[in-house]
Amino acid sequence: AKEPVRFLVTGAAGQIGYALVPMIARGVILGPDQPVILHMLDIPPAAEALNGVKMELVDAAFPLLKGVVATTDVIEACTGVNIAILVGGFPRKEGMERKDVMSKNVSIYKSQASALEKHAAANCKVLVVANPANTNALILKEFAPSIPEKNITCLTRLDHNRALGQISERLNVQVSDVKNVIIWGNHSSTQYPDVNHATVKTPSGEKPVRELVSDDAWLNGEFITTVQQRGAAIIKARKFSSALSAASSACDHIRDWVLGTTEGTWVSMGVYSDGSYNVPAGLIYSFPVTCRNGEWKIVQGLSIDEFSRKKLDLTAEELSEEKSLAYSCLS
Ligand code: NAI
Repeated sequence: AKEPVRFLVTGAAGQIGYALVPMIARGVILGPDQPVILHMLDIPPAAEALNGVKMELVDAAFPLLKGVVATTDVIEACTGVNIAILVGGFPRKEGMERKDVMSKNVSIYKSQASALEKHAAANCKVLVVANPANTNALILKEFAPSIPEKNITCLTRLDHNRALGQISERLNVQVSDVKNVIIWGNHSSTQYPDVNHATVKTPSGEKPVRELVSDDAWLNGEFITTVQQRGAAIIKARKFSSALSAASSACDHIRDWVLGTTEGTWVSMGVYSDGSYNVPAGLIYSFPVTCRNGEWKIVQGLSIDEFSRKKLDLTAEELSEEKSLAYSCLS
Protein backbone atom coordinates (compact mmCIF):
# COMPACT_ATOMS: atom_id res chain seq x y z
CA ALA A 1 0.00 0.00 0.00
CA LYS A 2 1.13 3.54 -0.75
CA GLU A 3 2.20 5.86 2.07
CA PRO A 4 -0.46 8.52 2.69
CA VAL A 5 0.22 12.02 1.31
CA ARG A 6 -0.30 14.77 3.88
CA PHE A 7 -2.34 17.74 2.65
CA LEU A 8 -2.52 20.96 4.63
CA VAL A 9 -5.55 23.21 4.10
CA THR A 10 -5.46 26.50 5.99
CA GLY A 11 -8.70 28.40 6.50
CA ALA A 12 -10.32 24.97 6.48
CA ALA A 13 -13.38 26.14 8.42
CA GLY A 14 -14.16 28.69 5.70
CA GLN A 15 -16.20 28.40 2.56
CA ILE A 16 -13.54 27.19 0.14
CA GLY A 17 -12.17 24.88 2.81
CA TYR A 18 -15.57 23.25 3.21
CA ALA A 19 -15.74 22.55 -0.52
CA LEU A 20 -12.08 21.53 -0.82
CA VAL A 21 -11.50 19.04 2.00
CA PRO A 22 -14.05 16.46 0.74
CA MET A 23 -12.51 16.65 -2.74
CA ILE A 24 -9.10 15.86 -1.28
CA ALA A 25 -10.52 13.08 0.88
CA ARG A 26 -12.20 11.51 -2.16
CA GLY A 27 -8.92 11.36 -4.04
CA VAL A 28 -9.86 13.99 -6.62
CA ILE A 29 -6.28 15.29 -6.74
CA LEU A 30 -4.00 12.27 -6.79
CA GLY A 31 -6.45 9.56 -7.73
CA PRO A 32 -8.24 6.62 -6.09
CA ASP A 33 -5.08 4.69 -5.20
CA GLN A 34 -3.46 7.40 -3.11
CA PRO A 35 -4.37 7.51 0.61
CA VAL A 36 -4.34 10.95 2.22
CA ILE A 37 -4.08 12.54 5.64
CA LEU A 38 -5.72 15.95 6.03
CA HIS A 39 -4.22 18.68 8.17
CA MET A 40 -6.68 21.52 8.72
CA LEU A 41 -5.73 24.85 10.25
CA ASP A 42 -7.93 27.73 11.26
CA ILE A 43 -7.84 30.47 13.90
CA PRO A 44 -9.24 30.13 17.44
CA PRO A 45 -12.57 31.93 16.72
CA ALA A 46 -13.24 29.24 14.10
CA ALA A 47 -12.05 26.28 16.20
CA GLU A 48 -15.54 24.98 16.90
CA ALA A 49 -16.56 25.20 13.25
CA LEU A 50 -13.32 23.46 12.30
CA ASN A 51 -14.14 20.65 14.67
CA GLY A 52 -17.55 20.38 13.00
CA VAL A 53 -15.82 19.89 9.64
CA LYS A 54 -13.67 17.18 11.21
CA MET A 55 -16.83 15.46 12.52
CA GLU A 56 -18.29 15.47 9.01
CA LEU A 57 -15.10 14.02 7.55
CA VAL A 58 -15.41 11.13 10.01
CA ASP A 59 -19.11 10.76 9.16
CA ALA A 60 -18.45 10.64 5.43
CA ALA A 61 -16.31 7.51 5.95
CA PHE A 62 -13.95 8.27 3.08
CA PRO A 63 -12.00 5.08 2.35
CA LEU A 64 -8.85 7.00 1.30
CA LEU A 65 -8.77 9.27 4.35
CA LYS A 66 -6.27 7.84 6.83
CA GLY A 67 -6.26 10.63 9.37
CA VAL A 68 -7.37 14.17 10.20
CA VAL A 69 -5.45 16.79 12.14
CA ALA A 70 -7.69 19.76 12.98
CA THR A 71 -5.85 22.46 14.85
CA THR A 72 -5.33 26.14 15.51
CA ASP A 73 -1.61 25.58 16.03
CA VAL A 74 0.34 26.50 12.93
CA ILE A 75 3.31 24.26 13.75
CA GLU A 76 1.16 21.20 14.39
CA ALA A 77 -0.68 21.96 11.15
CA CYS A 78 2.48 22.23 9.05
CA THR A 79 4.38 19.26 10.47
CA GLY A 80 5.22 16.68 7.83
CA VAL A 81 2.93 18.07 5.12
CA ASN A 82 3.71 17.25 1.49
CA ILE A 83 1.24 19.65 -0.12
CA ALA A 84 0.03 22.89 1.43
CA ILE A 85 -3.03 24.70 0.11
CA LEU A 86 -3.22 28.06 1.83
CA VAL A 87 -6.76 29.36 1.79
CA GLY A 88 -6.78 31.17 5.14
CA GLY A 89 -6.25 34.89 5.18
CA PHE A 90 -7.61 38.20 6.30
CA PRO A 91 -10.44 39.44 4.07
CA ARG A 92 -10.88 43.06 3.12
CA LYS A 93 -13.73 44.49 5.13
CA GLU A 94 -15.92 47.50 4.42
CA GLY A 95 -14.01 50.72 4.97
CA MET A 96 -10.60 49.09 5.40
CA GLU A 97 -7.54 50.56 3.71
CA ARG A 98 -5.65 48.35 1.29
CA LYS A 99 -2.54 48.80 3.37
CA ASP A 100 -4.25 47.54 6.54
CA VAL A 101 -5.43 44.37 4.79
CA MET A 102 -2.00 43.85 3.26
CA SER A 103 -0.35 44.29 6.61
CA LYS A 104 -2.55 41.59 8.22
CA ASN A 105 -1.83 39.15 5.41
CA VAL A 106 1.87 39.88 5.35
CA SER A 107 2.10 38.92 9.00
CA ILE A 108 0.01 35.74 8.47
CA TYR A 109 2.11 34.63 5.47
CA LYS A 110 5.35 35.47 7.20
CA SER A 111 4.53 33.21 10.13
CA GLN A 112 3.21 30.40 7.94
CA ALA A 113 6.39 30.64 5.86
CA SER A 114 8.55 29.96 8.91
CA ALA A 115 6.33 27.12 10.10
CA LEU A 116 6.37 25.43 6.68
CA GLU A 117 10.07 25.95 6.25
CA LYS A 118 10.87 24.35 9.59
CA HIS A 119 8.23 21.63 9.81
CA ALA A 120 6.88 20.62 6.40
CA ALA A 121 8.17 17.54 4.56
CA ALA A 122 11.13 18.01 2.23
CA ASN A 123 10.07 19.23 -1.21
CA CYS A 124 6.64 20.37 0.06
CA LYS A 125 4.62 22.03 -2.71
CA VAL A 126 2.71 25.17 -1.77
CA LEU A 127 -0.37 26.70 -3.43
CA VAL A 128 -1.61 30.06 -2.14
CA VAL A 129 -5.31 30.71 -2.75
CA ALA A 130 -6.01 33.49 -0.24
CA ASN A 131 -5.98 37.02 -1.61
CA PRO A 132 -3.94 38.93 -2.50
CA ALA A 133 -2.80 35.50 -3.73
CA ASN A 134 0.26 36.49 -5.79
CA THR A 135 1.67 38.78 -3.13
CA ASN A 136 0.90 36.41 -0.26
CA ALA A 137 2.88 33.77 -2.19
CA LEU A 138 5.74 36.22 -2.68
CA ILE A 139 5.89 36.97 1.06
CA LEU A 140 5.86 33.26 1.75
CA LYS A 141 8.75 32.76 -0.65
CA GLU A 142 10.78 35.56 0.93
CA PHE A 143 10.32 34.22 4.45
CA ALA A 144 10.89 30.57 3.62
CA PRO A 145 14.26 30.85 1.92
CA SER A 146 14.98 27.13 2.22
CA ILE A 147 11.84 26.19 0.29
CA PRO A 148 12.86 26.27 -3.39
CA GLU A 149 11.06 29.03 -5.28
CA LYS A 150 9.78 26.47 -7.77
CA ASN A 151 7.71 24.97 -4.95
CA ILE A 152 5.72 28.14 -4.25
CA THR A 153 2.78 29.02 -6.50
CA CYS A 154 -0.53 30.85 -6.42
CA LEU A 155 -3.92 30.03 -7.88
CA THR A 156 -4.96 31.52 -11.23
CA ARG A 157 -6.36 28.23 -12.50
CA LEU A 158 -9.85 29.37 -11.56
CA ASP A 159 -9.47 32.34 -13.92
CA HIS A 160 -8.05 29.98 -16.55
CA ASN A 161 -11.02 27.64 -16.17
CA ARG A 162 -13.42 30.59 -16.31
CA ALA A 163 -11.87 31.62 -19.62
CA LEU A 164 -12.29 28.07 -20.99
CA GLY A 165 -15.89 28.14 -19.80
CA GLN A 166 -16.67 31.44 -21.51
CA ILE A 167 -15.26 30.24 -24.85
CA SER A 168 -17.13 26.96 -24.58
CA GLU A 169 -20.43 28.77 -23.89
CA ARG A 170 -19.89 31.24 -26.69
CA LEU A 171 -19.09 28.57 -29.31
CA ASN A 172 -21.45 25.99 -27.88
CA VAL A 173 -18.67 23.39 -27.69
CA GLN A 174 -17.56 21.06 -24.90
CA VAL A 175 -15.27 22.81 -22.44
CA SER A 176 -12.94 19.80 -22.67
CA ASP A 177 -12.41 20.60 -26.37
CA VAL A 178 -11.09 24.11 -25.60
CA LYS A 179 -7.46 24.52 -24.54
CA ASN A 180 -4.47 26.80 -24.17
CA VAL A 181 -6.08 30.01 -22.99
CA ILE A 182 -3.67 31.98 -20.79
CA ILE A 183 -4.13 34.07 -17.68
CA TRP A 184 -1.26 36.54 -17.39
CA GLY A 185 -0.38 38.39 -14.22
CA ASN A 186 -2.25 39.07 -11.04
CA HIS A 187 -5.26 37.20 -9.70
CA SER A 188 -7.16 40.50 -9.68
CA SER A 189 -9.19 42.53 -12.12
CA THR A 190 -6.00 43.55 -13.97
CA GLN A 191 -5.31 39.94 -15.01
CA TYR A 192 -5.17 39.42 -18.77
CA PRO A 193 -7.15 36.46 -20.13
CA ASP A 194 -5.51 35.84 -23.52
CA VAL A 195 -7.04 33.67 -26.28
CA ASN A 196 -4.47 34.39 -28.98
CA HIS A 197 -3.01 30.88 -28.76
CA ALA A 198 -6.15 29.03 -27.68
CA THR A 199 -7.66 26.31 -29.84
CA VAL A 200 -10.82 24.22 -30.08
CA LYS A 201 -11.02 20.59 -31.17
CA THR A 202 -13.54 20.36 -34.02
CA PRO A 203 -14.59 17.51 -36.34
CA SER A 204 -12.28 19.05 -38.96
CA GLY A 205 -9.25 19.33 -36.66
CA GLU A 206 -7.92 21.84 -34.14
CA LYS A 207 -8.92 25.43 -34.93
CA PRO A 208 -7.76 28.72 -33.36
CA VAL A 209 -10.35 30.37 -31.12
CA ARG A 210 -9.65 33.61 -33.01
CA GLU A 211 -10.84 31.92 -36.21
CA LEU A 212 -13.97 30.37 -34.70
CA VAL A 213 -15.00 33.47 -32.78
CA SER A 214 -14.72 36.00 -35.53
CA ASP A 215 -16.04 38.75 -33.25
CA ASP A 216 -12.80 40.47 -32.22
CA ALA A 217 -14.70 43.15 -30.34
CA TRP A 218 -16.12 40.46 -28.05
CA LEU A 219 -12.78 38.72 -27.58
CA ASN A 220 -10.95 41.97 -26.85
CA GLY A 221 -13.73 43.44 -24.74
CA GLU A 222 -16.57 41.62 -23.05
CA PHE A 223 -14.78 38.26 -22.88
CA ILE A 224 -11.88 39.82 -20.98
CA THR A 225 -14.00 41.84 -18.59
CA THR A 226 -16.35 38.90 -17.93
CA VAL A 227 -13.42 36.72 -16.84
CA GLN A 228 -11.83 39.57 -14.85
CA GLN A 229 -15.09 40.37 -13.03
CA ARG A 230 -16.44 36.85 -12.65
CA GLY A 231 -15.58 36.67 -8.95
CA ALA A 232 -17.63 39.79 -8.25
CA ALA A 233 -20.53 38.46 -10.38
CA ILE A 234 -20.62 35.25 -8.33
CA ILE A 235 -20.61 37.19 -5.05
CA LYS A 236 -23.48 39.31 -6.34
CA ALA A 237 -25.50 36.24 -7.32
CA ARG A 238 -24.70 33.94 -4.40
CA LYS A 239 -23.96 36.51 -1.70
CA PHE A 240 -20.86 34.39 -1.01
CA SER A 241 -17.64 34.09 -2.95
CA SER A 242 -17.01 31.35 -5.50
CA ALA A 243 -16.10 28.41 -3.29
CA LEU A 244 -17.02 25.38 -5.39
CA SER A 245 -15.15 26.54 -8.48
CA ALA A 246 -12.19 27.81 -6.45
CA ALA A 247 -11.87 24.46 -4.66
CA SER A 248 -12.20 22.49 -7.88
CA SER A 249 -9.61 24.65 -9.64
CA ALA A 250 -7.20 24.31 -6.72
CA CYS A 251 -7.48 20.51 -7.20
CA ASP A 252 -6.78 20.93 -10.94
CA HIS A 253 -3.72 23.06 -10.14
CA ILE A 254 -2.17 20.51 -7.77
CA ARG A 255 -3.09 17.48 -9.88
CA ASP A 256 -1.49 18.87 -13.02
CA TRP A 257 1.54 20.09 -11.10
CA VAL A 258 2.18 16.68 -9.51
CA LEU A 259 0.96 14.33 -12.25
CA GLY A 260 1.83 16.48 -15.29
CA THR A 261 -0.06 18.32 -18.01
CA THR A 262 -1.24 16.56 -21.16
CA GLU A 263 1.09 16.74 -24.16
CA GLY A 264 0.29 19.87 -26.19
CA THR A 265 -1.70 21.51 -23.40
CA TRP A 266 -0.65 24.19 -20.99
CA VAL A 267 -2.34 25.65 -17.91
CA SER A 268 -1.99 28.95 -16.02
CA MET A 269 -0.17 29.10 -12.69
CA GLY A 270 1.10 31.99 -10.59
CA VAL A 271 4.84 31.31 -10.36
CA TYR A 272 8.05 33.15 -9.55
CA SER A 273 9.01 35.19 -12.58
CA ASP A 274 12.43 34.60 -14.12
CA GLY A 275 11.94 37.53 -16.48
CA SER A 276 10.23 35.49 -19.23
CA TYR A 277 8.14 37.65 -21.61
CA ASN A 278 9.85 40.70 -20.11
CA VAL A 279 7.86 40.36 -16.93
CA PRO A 280 9.99 41.77 -14.08
CA ALA A 281 11.86 38.97 -12.32
CA GLY A 282 10.98 38.53 -8.66
CA LEU A 283 7.19 38.84 -8.92
CA ILE A 284 4.77 35.95 -8.54
CA TYR A 285 3.04 36.30 -11.91
CA SER A 286 0.64 34.02 -13.75
CA PHE A 287 2.17 32.41 -16.86
CA PRO A 288 1.29 29.56 -19.19
CA VAL A 289 3.12 26.50 -17.87
CA THR A 290 3.52 22.83 -18.64
CA CYS A 291 4.28 20.36 -15.87
CA ARG A 292 6.37 17.18 -15.86
CA ASN A 293 7.87 15.10 -13.08
CA GLY A 294 6.38 17.41 -10.48
CA GLU A 295 7.92 20.58 -11.91
CA TRP A 296 6.38 23.44 -13.87
CA LYS A 297 8.06 25.19 -16.76
CA ILE A 298 6.99 28.47 -18.35
CA VAL A 299 5.95 27.97 -21.99
CA GLN A 300 8.43 29.94 -24.09
CA GLY A 301 8.30 31.62 -27.46
CA LEU A 302 4.65 32.64 -27.71
CA SER A 303 4.10 35.77 -29.79
CA ILE A 304 2.80 38.76 -27.87
CA ASP A 305 1.06 41.44 -29.93
CA GLU A 306 0.91 45.10 -28.99
CA PHE A 307 -2.55 44.84 -27.40
CA SER A 308 -1.37 41.95 -25.21
CA ARG A 309 1.94 43.64 -24.35
CA LYS A 310 0.13 46.57 -22.75
CA LYS A 311 -2.03 44.24 -20.74
CA LEU A 312 0.93 42.11 -19.57
CA ASP A 313 2.69 45.29 -18.44
CA LEU A 314 -0.34 46.77 -16.70
CA THR A 315 -0.88 43.74 -14.47
CA ALA A 316 2.91 43.54 -13.79
CA GLU A 317 2.81 47.18 -12.65
CA GLU A 318 0.02 46.39 -10.23
CA LEU A 319 2.03 43.48 -8.84
CA SER A 320 5.12 45.64 -8.41
CA GLU A 321 3.01 48.14 -6.48
CA GLU A 322 1.57 45.37 -4.31
CA LYS A 323 5.08 44.14 -3.67
CA SER A 324 6.20 47.59 -2.48
CA LEU A 325 3.11 47.90 -0.33
CA ALA A 326 3.82 44.47 1.21
CA TYR A 327 7.44 45.45 1.90
CA SER A 328 6.35 48.73 3.46
CA CYS A 329 4.25 46.66 5.88
CA LEU A 330 7.35 44.74 6.96
CA SER A 331 9.32 47.70 8.17
P1 NAI B 1 -13.80 32.50 4.26
O1 NAI B 1 -13.79 33.80 4.98
O2 NAI B 1 -15.07 31.71 4.19
O3 NAI B 1 -12.70 31.53 4.89
C1 NAI B 1 -11.44 31.96 5.26
C2 NAI B 1 -11.03 31.16 6.49
O4 NAI B 1 -9.67 31.48 6.80
C3 NAI B 1 -11.86 31.47 7.72
O5 NAI B 1 -12.35 30.26 8.30
C4 NAI B 1 -10.85 32.18 8.64
O6 NAI B 1 -11.12 31.94 10.02
C5 NAI B 1 -9.56 31.53 8.20
N1 NAI B 1 -8.35 32.25 8.57
C6 NAI B 1 -8.17 33.58 8.73
N2 NAI B 1 -6.91 33.85 9.13
C7 NAI B 1 -6.28 32.65 9.21
C8 NAI B 1 -4.98 32.27 9.59
N3 NAI B 1 -4.07 33.18 9.97
N4 NAI B 1 -4.67 30.96 9.57
C9 NAI B 1 -5.58 30.04 9.23
N5 NAI B 1 -6.85 30.34 8.88
C10 NAI B 1 -7.18 31.63 8.88
O7 NAI B 1 -13.25 32.80 2.80
P2 NAI B 1 -13.29 31.90 1.49
O8 NAI B 1 -14.46 32.26 0.67
O9 NAI B 1 -13.08 30.48 1.87
O10 NAI B 1 -12.01 32.47 0.71
C11 NAI B 1 -10.73 32.29 1.22
C12 NAI B 1 -9.72 33.14 0.47
O11 NAI B 1 -9.60 32.74 -0.88
C13 NAI B 1 -10.06 34.63 0.43
O12 NAI B 1 -8.86 35.35 0.64
C14 NAI B 1 -10.56 34.83 -0.98
O13 NAI B 1 -10.37 36.16 -1.41
C15 NAI B 1 -9.65 33.88 -1.73
N6 NAI B 1 -10.12 33.45 -3.04
C16 NAI B 1 -9.15 33.25 -4.02
C17 NAI B 1 -9.48 32.77 -5.25
C18 NAI B 1 -8.41 32.54 -6.28
O14 NAI B 1 -8.78 32.18 -7.41
N7 NAI B 1 -7.13 32.73 -6.01
C19 NAI B 1 -10.88 32.50 -5.60
C20 NAI B 1 -11.82 32.71 -4.52
C21 NAI B 1 -11.43 33.17 -3.29
